[in-house]
Amino acid sequence: MYRTHTCGELNAEHIGQEVTLSGWVQKVRDLGSVIFVDLRDRYGITQLSFNEENKELLEQARKLGREFVVQAKGKVIERASKNKKIPTGDIEILVDELNILNEAKTPPFTIEDQTDGGEELRMKYRYLDIRRNPVKEKLIFRSKVTQAVRNYLTDQGFIDVETPYLIKSTPEGARDFVVPSRMHPGHFYALPQSPQTFKQLLMVGGMDKYMQIVKCFRDEDLRADRQPEFTQIDCEMAFVEQEDILNTFEGLVKHLLKEIHGIEIEKFPRMSYDEAMRKYGNDKPDIRFGMEFGDLTEAAKGKGFNVFDQQEAILGIAVPGAANYTRKQIDKITDWVKRPQIGAKGMVYVKYNEDGSFKSSVDKFYTQEDLKKWAEITNAKPGDLILVLSGDLDTTRTQLSALRMEMAEQLGLRKPDEFAPLWVVDFPLLEWDEETKRYHAMHHPFTAPKPEDAHLLDTKDPRIVRANAYDLVLNGNEIGGGSIRIHDKQMQAKMLNLLGFSDEEAQKQFGFLMNAFEYGAPPHGGLAFGLDRLVAILGGQETIRDYIAFPKNNAGRDVMIDAPDTISQEQLEELHLQIIKDKE
Ligand code: AMO
Repeated sequence: MYRTHTCGELNAEHIGQEVTLSGWVQKVRDLGSVIFVDLRDRYGITQLSFNEENKELLEQARKLGREFVVQAKGKVIERASKNKKIPTGDIEILVDELNILNEAKTPPFTIEDQTDGGEELRMKYRYLDIRRNPVKEKLIFRSKVTQAVRNYLTDQGFIDVETPYLIKSTPEGARDFVVPSRMHPGHFYALPQSPQTFKQLLMVGGMDKYMQIVKCFRDEDLRADRQPEFTQIDCEMAFVEQEDILNTFEGLVKHLLKEIHGIEIEKFPRMSYDEAMRKYGNDKPDIRFGMEFGDLTEAAKGKGFNVFDQQEAILGIAVPGAANYTRKQIDKITDWVKRPQIGAKGMVYVKYNEDGSFKSSVDKFYTQEDLKKWAEITNAKPGDLILVLSGDLDTTRTQLSALRMEMAEQLGLRKPDEFAPLWVVDFPLLEWDEETKRYHAMHHPFTAPKPEDAHLLDTKDPRIVRANAYDLVLNGNEIGGGSIRIHDKQMQAKMLNLLGFSDEEAQKQFGFLMNAFEYGAPPHGGLAFGLDRLVAILGGQETIRDYIAFPKNNAGRDVMIDAPDTISQEQLEELHLQIIKDKE
């Protein structure tokens, strides 16, 4: 038997017992006549002690290096100097037998909570990184959340069904990863961007309530909250309306907040897409703090300030308690919005002083009365700093939204232990893509228009059609999204036509789904959560990589196994593939 106990469970109650522990050597403290070894496993750290009474053993302990895998047998004794910081700190093991199970090279970085290893190095040796508490705890946390999700949905009557990974392309807005077929020369499978069409077919199949915790694959640019392969909690229900779905999954998130953090939230607020864009310039607003946009366009135009007079939109936010910012601090913010990533041309500020007066960068053009009006519109209070950006509406919204988040970050308003969920509803069904000169489905092509808007699909500008689509936003992150689906063949065909598919193309790519709709498709809808994001945010962070055991780096590479990689000529031939070298 390798062990009788783990390294985390022994305490004063075990004093006098003979035990066997196995684990990794965290630290060796050689005091000459006594040696202390910290032995670590998943559960904790226990101190082993060796002394001169057994010289042979003492010499053996002296040879131990960091991360050696050892088994130690001995008696639990009370420690002379106790360590109150760890649960096993009252005791130590007076070792009478030591077995080295495996030696270890010196690790390339310290296996400590605060390590000296850089990101790339830790990725390369991820298995060592996983031994560190912060990483280990995140993986355990993820497992706990996943378990809670599965329990909740199973209790609600959802059936877990697996769908295939080798499929054909489903458009969800990203590029597909493709897999060449050996048996069918020139043909490719695509890895699913989501199981969207399969879960709809399961509804046609009568499964009624489907769930799956499933890997999805998207070949898109990576960010802190995006990985090329990620996990969804994918769900679909039949005979439901939007309201049923929102309630069911609000229930799930409430359950998680309660289970994991003991937080109870009565009802999640809802906001239309239009309102979110107007108030926050963003369809996933962080509502843990205010700083709602004020539209200054009317109030600020026509007062002789040329810059503003020419703009489509002039928008401002009131930053709480920042009226006392120095010139230098404000210049820093201006530089920040002018960075290429944000791209603002400039920024106007107004200090709303505690005494009720105003001091602005545009005092030449605006009276105190004018600026008072701005304060009203942006809901500023004495002591606040109003920041104003201008330009075309969409760009200004995006820029001010980024500035709002940055200011909240700087002021510590994005508290990781505070949770503010929000349903964003009534998304537009379509968006216009300038590049391809086509309409794109804002959610995906299977999303149904709101019944009261469906007749507008035939109008000149169908962008006004709203969809029965919704996102769940948590602390400024989109953690889930879904919609009521089209379940009628004609409507699906019409939608695909609008998106630029000819009848023939639509039939070729989605015939399987449209044909299924002819065999009694029930009304249905669903949603998918991004599990990685959900877990990260519940854990108080926004970078999902830390919550994935073996993530890809920013360039989409797994630096540990070195993937993607080339394949042999033989493999290429078998797959009927030929590498075309870049043309010089
Ligand atoms: P959607 O594309 O909105 O919807 O995806 C659902 C959720 O998945 C998460 N997500 C990601 N997480 C990490 N890395 C990525 N690259 C990534 N892409 C998306 C987000 C997102 O909210 N089939 C539909 C769902 C439906 O309609 O039922 C779908 O996939 O948290």
